[in-house]
Amino acid sequence: MKPLEIAKNVYWVGAIDWNIRDFHGYSTYQGTTYNAFLIKDQKTVLIDTVKRDFFSEWMEQIREVIDPKKIDWVISNHTEMDHSGSLPWLMHVIGSEKPVYCSKMGAQNLARHFSAGLNLRPVNEGEEMKLEQRTLTFLETRMLHWPDSMFTYLKEDQILFSSDAFGQHYAGMERFDDQIGEAIMPHAKKYFANILLLYAPLVLKLVEKVTRMGLKIRMICPDHGIMWRKDPGKIIQAYVEWSQQKPGKKALVIYDSMWHSTQTMAEAIVEALAQEGLDARPMHLRTIHRSDVMTEVLDAGAILVGSPTLNNGLFPNVADFLCYLKGLKPQNKIGAAFGSYGWSGEAVKLINQDLEEMKFRIVDPGLKIQYVPDPKGLEACHVLGKKVAQALAF
Ligand code: FEO
Repeated sequence: MKPLEIAKNVYWVGAIDWNIRDFHGYSTYQGTTYNAFLIKDQKTVLIDTVKRDFFSEWMEQIREVIDPKKIDWVISNHTEMDHSGSLPWLMHVIGSEKPVYCSKMGAQNLARHFSAGLNLRPVNEGEEMKLEQRTLTFLETRMLHWPDSMFTYLKEDQILFSSDAFGQHYAGMERFDDQIGEAIMPHAKKYFANILLLYAPLVLKLVEKVTRMGLKIRMICPDHGIMWRKDPGKIIQAYVEWSQQKPGKKALVIYDSMWHSTQTMAEAIVEALAQEGLDARPMHLRTIHRSDVMTEVLDAGAILVGSPTLNNGLFPNVADFLCYLKGLKPQNKIGAAFGSYGWSGEAVKLINQDLEEMKFRIVDPGLKIQYVPDPKGLEACHVLGKKVAQALAF
């Protein structure tokens, strides 16, 4: 991939990872990119690096813009190794004495990742760095999504280098929002739901802070996916809406099944929810990846979880999903549990415990049916669906 001049003397120098399909548990069906940026001025600055596997091809790309030895300063916005993995090798090429600017936590975390002696220079919130014609400013964005995360702002060009925030796991030939259009939004939504949802309150505070500072943003350059130049306000607004987590008129029936009984219950519940006017969807956990289910959770008002009882516990896929869901802490949901069982029937109780822990509003004690649902059992599924729909009345 060739470098790309995105503003005068500002270059995208990233790597496209076409083949990655699992990004630590997140399904990346369309790959991803690792974006890094080079700014040429009196001082030449590199913002972020790429995953280690792409180091050689990335260096070739940088060489098309400048002799890497002429890079004066490196900025590390985030320690996670998809952005810092090439750092020690880069420093070996450009000179290990050159400074690496990062947040205070970045300095601690980079030192814990790489034993090679990096010349780490922690920066403060709002600190400015003069390159000659241009000025860089740093914004601490702690826990968005690691303790070390920060943004770098290029004042004269009004470009925000936003690290993971506003990114998408998408590999394509497009580099900008205007080249792909609306098709990028589902990727941005999935990325938010699976990476940033837990930190939604901090996203809202950050947007408030940026608004208060009157920061003018002409372009947002995240470390993954396309850059937002046509309408950076669009992704900021989407982040505000997703962070608010207003419950939608949508109900998900998330389940797994052994001998189709829990599935039959799920389908009957979906039918009842739909009859009540909700956008209702069954989501079978052995068919749909947990990260895709999570994307749908983002704007759903009700989450019903179904599991058979296996060995006195939850079905493993359901336990996996609940563990993932709990970690991301979705807010403002109505919840309910259901499932078929043979003799002990603990699954409904265990699901309810998890829903309570997540502070879901539980509107029914839960429905369990022994072995196979009969017409009376199916009627009970309808009643449960209706009850949830009525609790979610708009
Ligand atoms: Fe893309 Fe948190 O790394």
